[in-house]
Amino acid sequence: MGDGYSFVVVANRLPVDRTTGEDGEQQWTRSPGGLVSALAPIARTSGGAWVGWIGAPDDDTGPQEVDGIQLRPVPLSAQDVDRYYEGQSNSTIWPLFHDLVEPPVHRREWRQAYEAVNRRFAEAAAEVAADGATVWVHDYQLLLVPAMLRSLRPDLRIGFFLHIPFPPVELFMQLPRRAELLRGLLGADLVGFQRPLAAQNFLQLTGSLLGLQPHDDRVGYEGRTVVARAFPISIDVAEIDRLAADPAVQWESDRLRADLGDNRRLLLGVDRLDYTKGIEQRIEAFGELLAEGAVSNDEVVLVQVATPSRIRVAQYQQLRERVEREVGRINGEYGAVGRVPVHYLFQSRTPEELVALYLATDVMLVTPLRDGMNLVAKEFVAARRDELGAMVLSEFTGAAAELEDAFLVNPHDVEDLKRAMLAALDAPPDDRTVRMRRMRSRVHGHDVDRWARQFLDALDDPDRAKD
Ligand code: G6P
Repeated sequence: MGDGYSFVVVANRLPVDRTTGEDGEQQWTRSPGGLVSALAPIARTSGGAWVGWIGAPDDDTGPQEVDGIQLRPVPLSAQDVDRYYEGQSNSTIWPLFHDLVEPPVHRREWRQAYEAVNRRFAEAAAEVAADGATVWVHDYQLLLVPAMLRSLRPDLRIGFFLHIPFPPVELFMQLPRRAELLRGLLGADLVGFQRPLAAQNFLQLTGSLLGLQPHDDRVGYEGRTVVARAFPISIDVAEIDRLAADPAVQWESDRLRADLGDNRRLLLGVDRLDYTKGIEQRIEAFGELLAEGAVSNDEVVLVQVATPSRIRVAQYQQLRERVEREVGRINGEYGAVGRVPVHYLFQSRTPEELVALYLATDVMLVTPLRDGMNLVAKEFVAARRDELGAMVLSEFTGAAAELEDAFLVNPHDVEDLKRAMLAALDAPPDDRTVRMRRMRSRVHGHDVDRWARQFLDALDDPDRAKD
């Protein structure tokens, strides 16, 4: 115990996935999603360890150092992946915490696997943490870990951060074994959320479900005080800025624009292919604008990057089919030889390629039905050193609370989506620049370093860090 790490991150995924290249060689690639893009820079500089899954079933790779991060893999069997990851995490908790955008599925054997795997993560963290270390547990896959870890290692300071929304009280109440999940989180000293309302929902539940007496931003539990507070997450602004200033990235951006047609205006969506992201509604709205003649294939083009995600889960497979059918329909009806209105990429893209796309964009479309934060919105803003480019942003993202100068939209309402897309396309350049400048100033003042520092300071001493 004594010689372990004084700082340990625990998350379902390691920041890199072990994959097999075309030549059969094993390689490390960056894992998908906002959690990893936010935390990787912090893990790199902290000198701590990261406990997580390697991204493939039945892989028993031992401890590794990759890209300056000490990785401590937790192996998952094919059955664990099926029940804990695809089942309880991504077919029960994920849809329920995202306002039932898809109906959650409840299975007893998934819950059992979730508990067993959470225990293994807690044991792995207990093993690598030094005496009195700080352990930072992340996200909805590991809700039980804080309490399990505390019973193994009462000497640790334990923080938990939820990257996705926390549901309203009446939705949380639908979860089987809901009190146990809540007790899991109460094992932490500090529970962080993206939005203040989420922290309030959590504290309210400790009263109604467990009979505790929350007060202000804290609640007493088993002789300790647990603090619950909002810490809106952000991005590595300097890194995006560096990429945006890179001549090779700028050259790529010019090439993209030329390929798409210099005289056409570019609308861009970049999301994991997930039903929470509002991709279908966005494409439907774009198709209607073409059908009504409000825009034409000669004037505009939509690029939708849809990163493959959770591809074995039925709801994700069905979404993919629906999106691809609709893209095919729109291109069939409104396209011409050598010129289609929708470019759909079911592919992962490197950070360089994404920034090149951001730079080429006239209107960024970030229209999730529900999203804890959405870091793509912040990346787009950070990339636009030219202070050009507009953004249509869903009111149902955490980012909307900070980026009020975007063209805010109700993503469930296709008419509203169309209105916002046209408003963003037609906005005078001065208006767009004023909006972008304000958004950039917000993002620059609140980068991911500051987020991590505020969380860790509050974990150290909740009263000192409050102001
Ligand atoms: C979201 C979640 C993360 C998750 C990521 C990618 O950002 O909050 O916890 O890692 O999606 O999803 P995946 O299932 O591929 O890890």
